[in-house]
This record gives sequence, C-alpha cells and structure tokens, in this order.
Amino acid sequence: MNEPLTEKAIQQWLREEDPSRLDALWHWADQVRRENVGDAVHLRGLIEISNYCSRQCGYCGLRAANTDLERYRMSSEEILECAHEAARYRYGTVVMQAGEDYGIEAEWLAEIVFRIKMETPLAVTLSMGERPDNDLRRWREAGADRYLLRFETSDPELFAAIHPPHPARPAQNRLEILRTLRRLGYEVGSGVMIGIPGQSYESLAHDIATFRELGLDMVGVGPYISHPSTPLGEGAAIQPLEPGQQVPNTELMTYKVVALTRLVCPRANIPSTTALATLNLASGRELGLQRGANVIMPNMTPPKYRALYQIYPAKACIQETSQECRICLQGRIQSIGRTVGSGPGGRTKT
Ligand code: 5AD
Ligand code: FES
Repeated sequence: MNEPLTEKAIQQWLREEDPSRLDALWHWADQVRRENVGDAVHLRGLIEISNYCSRQCGYCGLRAANTDLERYRMSSEEILECAHEAARYRYGTVVMQAGEDYGIEAEWLAEIVFRIKMETPLAVTLSMGERPDNDLRRWREAGADRYLLRFETSDPELFAAIHPPHPARPAQNRLEILRTLRRLGYEVGSGVMIGIPGQSYESLAHDIATFRELGLDMVGVGPYISHPSTPLGEGAAIQPLEPGQQVPNTELMTYKVVALTRLVCPRANIPSTTALATLNLASGRELGLQRGANVIMPNMTPPKYRALYQIYPAKACIQETSQECRICLQGRIQSIGRTVGSGPGGRTKT
C-alpha cells in the first residue's frame, strides 16, 4: 500500500461502496494523519470580513447579482477586536475571508494584517479571491503568512462554465495565482467542492492528484450545497453527464475525498469543513477529523453578520457566538481522544 496512489486507484476509491473496504480507507487515512501531523487539531479563527463580491460564480450565494442579500463590510476596529479574541482563546491563527471585494483596499487590509502581527502571536491567513499580484505582495510584506484560494475543479470547461471572468479585470488562472503565492513566500492552500453539477469521477480524481502535484500546504474540501439564488441552484444548463458519471454531493463522498487527500498530501493541514458539518451537524466535524482532517476553523464573525455570509443555505454555526463555537469544538475534539493544538500550526517540514 506504499505505492503512490494512481489517478485510476483514486477513482476506484471514489466509486467504492463496500463498507468494509471503506472502513479500511478511513483507518489508512487516520493512520497517515497520525504519523505525519499527529493528534493535535489546530484551530483557525475564521473572520468573514465582508460579503461584498464583484464576481458571479454560478454556485455562490455571495455572487454580485444576488440582490436578495444584505451586504456588510466589517470595520478595522471590529476585525481587530475579533483577532484579539482569537488570541485570548489561544487559537494559533486567524483566517480573514471575504468575497472578491475591491472595496477592501490593499493598503487598508495591509494595515490590519500588520497590526494583528504586531499585537498578537497569531498566524494570519487571507482568503480574498483572485486579487492582483501587487495586492498579494503588499499583504505578504505586511506579514500575512498564508493564503487560501480553492481551484474548485481541475476541469477547465467546468471551471469556465461556473466562473464568469471579472467584467473589468484581466482574466487570471487560479493555478498561476497559486504559484505566485508560493513565490511570494506564503504557505498556500487550495481545494475543491465535491459534487458540483457536471463534475465527473474522472475529474474529481484528477483534482485530488492535482493537490499532490501542487505540493499544497493546506487543502480544504467540502460538499457543494445548492443555493436557490444562484444559477446552479436554479438548475442552469450545465452539460449533464452520462449516467453513473456525476459525483454526488454527499457526506460519504466528502469523507472519501478527505481521506484520499490525506493519502496524497500526508503532511498537509486539512480542515474538517463547515460545509461538511452542515450535512451532518451531529458528527460531521468529528468524522472528518477521524478520516484524515487535522484542522477546524471555528467561526468568529460577529453574530450580527454571520447569517449574511451565506455562501450556501443552512450553514452550520450561524446562530452561535464565537464563545459557543469554541466550547462546542473543544468538546468535540476531546470526545474523540484528540488534543487542541497550540501555536500557529503551520507547515510541517519533511
Ligand atoms: N456550496 C459549497 N461550498 C461553496 N463555496 C462557495 N459556494 C458554495 C456552495 N454553494 C465554497 C467554495 C469557495 C469557498 C469559500 O466556499 O469552494 O472557495
Ligand atoms: Fe459552532 Fe459547534 S462549532 S456551534
């Protein structure tokens, strides 16, 4: 079992239905996780700093054309207050995420990053979309440590069908941006959604092999969840696949992808995501952690904004406060015999 997994083998695992074989996959991924990144679960406090977005992704509730959504952008004081709270909770990292919001000026965010780095011991992760290289450079200079940009699917046709280019900016290639981020010295994270309409087993297997090729430091994967105020949610015409080719957007498929991701990227930081928790509120987070994941991103967005960061409906944790999520997650981590990580929990050297 020490040969690197071929794309064909990955695809076979994605199609595997036999419960005892799947049990073997879960154990294998859990063992690889333990040997490579240990039992600590790193907590990354997530601050959703703005739900404005200039893009029109076919699946995402924050898309610019969704006028059903009230928009917000946090003030720098509000963001810094959340970051200090994360430090008090002894989280190692804050993740600032937003739609692709050019109302967030590079210099404004650079100042916030700089202050968080000066005033707290936190690692800073950004997830701001396909921003120009100069913005990425400026934030790195200000002290940002990591950047997340999912490539969503490695199938260029499917990618193009669900990601209209920005109307007023040069087209960018996400894999190219990931290389730029690496060159700038960021730890780099990416990932995909599972079960996007039009996503085949073959292309998902290729996505997973691509995680390995890119040598990612962080890989986030979660189920696609249909949002009614989006073209995909309204059943927009995506070329339907032959019977048996479409990947289902299920909880089980998500575990398979988490486990296979651990096998191809043994040392990566892999979150058990909120989208997975949304499919199984009772135990999705724990099962993700037991099938390859080693990171959780507790939501720290102020309660008045939480429900507005509606990427997809019925998102977990929109009624809770930061404090409630912290206590809930610490309990869940301990209940499965794992420990809460200390320190920034960055890339582990081979
Ligand atoms: N369902 C699941 N995940 C989604 N994302 C965006 N919209 C949806 C949806 N409808 C994910 C994308 C994006 C991340 C921030 O959220 O993968 O990169
Ligand atoms: Fe938010 Fe459990 S993580 S309530």
